[in-house]
Amino acid sequence: PVVWRGYHERVVDHYNNPRNVGSFDKNDPDVGTGLVGAPACGDVMKLQIKIDETSGKIVDACFKTFGCGSAIASSSVATEWVKGKQMEDVLSIKNTEIAKHLSLPPVKLHCSMLAEDAIKAAVKDYETKRGRSERNKEATL
Ligand code: FES
Ligand code: FES
Repeated sequence: PVVWRGYHERVVDHYNNPRNVGSFDKNDPDVGTGLVGAPACGDVMKLQIKIDETSGKIVDACFKTFGCGSAIASSSVATEWVKGKQMEDVLSIKNTEIAKHLSLPPVKLHCSMLAEDAIKAAVKDYETKRGRSERNKEATL
């Protein structure tokens, strides 16, 4: 494995052994797909969640990241954190928490931002697909 001077061992661990690498069928009605890019560096992250419609719980998650080691590690951590949580609860996951967990240096903050954005985009995609936002709106009217 590569030796990364100055990087926290958790980054190296998630880079060398990324958790939950893969893809779900984006047309599966139970799947939400978040595809986001970082304009600064051109890196791209796809994060997908699988939701149990009845409970609103995220039962599975996976990612594919074309990007730097910090982005790969951030997406790996993100998939671990969202699994088993309620969909609404993962919207509060902050990139700064991921960055802190991985001890990312300030210049690598945008890499963890990709993960936060990808989580939000995946939830939004699922809700749009399910017409959930409309339903919630109706419920509050
Ligand atoms: Fe993997 Fe904490 S080291 S999520
Ligand atoms: Fe851009 Fe890491 S350098 S995502």
